[in-house]
Amino acid sequence: SLVNGTEIFKAARKGHYAVGAFNTNNLEWTRAILGAAQETNTPILIQTSMGAAKYMGGYELCKNLVEQTIKSMNITVPVIMHLDHGNYEAAKECIEVGYNSVMFDGHDLPFEENLAKTKEIVALAHAKGISVEAEVGSIGGEEDGIIGAGELADVEEAKQLAAAGPDYLAVGIGNIHGVYPENWQGLSFDRLQELADVIDLPLVLHGGSGIPKEQILKAISMGISKVNVNTEQQIAWSKAVKEYYAENKDQAEKGFDPRKVLAPGTKAIKDTVESRIEWFGTPAVK
Ligand code: G3H
Ligand code: ZN
Repeated sequence: SLVNGTEIFKAARKGHYAVGAFNTNNLEWTRAILGAAQETNTPILIQTSMGAAKYMGGYELCKNLVEQTIKSMNITVPVIMHLDHGNYEAAKECIEVGYNSVMFDGHDLPFEENLAKTKEIVALAHAKGISVEAEVGSIGGEEDGIIGAGELADVEEAKQLAAAGPDYLAVGIGNIHGVYPENWQGLSFDRLQELADVIDLPLVLHGGSGIPKEQILKAISMGISKVNVNTEQQIAWSKAVKEYYAENKDQAEKGFDPRKVLAPGTKAIKDTVESRIEWFGTPAVK
């Protein structure tokens, strides 16, 4: 069933585990992510970036797709439908169409404006029982046109943004979207500790793909309660599809029936999501 993220992530911070946030792009991705949640009997967050929603045909369609897939697959675990890295307009639209949770990503705005707009989105969202994620500091790298410099979150700014009333807070702690460069320095646990000491909100780690497991587990033990993973599913999908083509390219009906071609990729996404759920220690629902 569809629920907001407020209680689920509060419980995660308190219980020192995380709930995964996985990006969808289409029907197959949606089925794979929801299927992984059902199989492991754990809550899950499924999210659309602005780019993915545009690709799929709009926020309302995305919301309906997730809702109908839950119904047709008999998904019984809690599912949070979330907007990933939304600007002000996108966040407002998703609140309108009934997402359960929205991220307002104001990291590229002057801080005062990020703060003011976060407050506005919080008021609109909370009036409808929708959760809000805010962002302080920026996530390095690029994702669907969202570019960040990767600076560490300022602790004072983080405190002020947390006081604006969001339900969870994305923090820049050296994390990067996409594939990590060879010379990546790793997560800044010093900064994470400083943030976790003064902020009670569940903290969000973006750029979850490619961070070594020990670093993810350490970050979760320190207050990270939501981990966003996208690129890893894309890599798993394309690897499986390439292998499928390599094996079946000479077999006519197997080579062009989209349902056959897409099946191994879908399975690879589901396996990746299940393995991350296991890493994050998300407990099964009772
Ligand atoms: O918002 C989405 C995540 O931060 C995804 O990052 O593609 O590096 O896993 P990733
Ligand atoms: Zn992100």
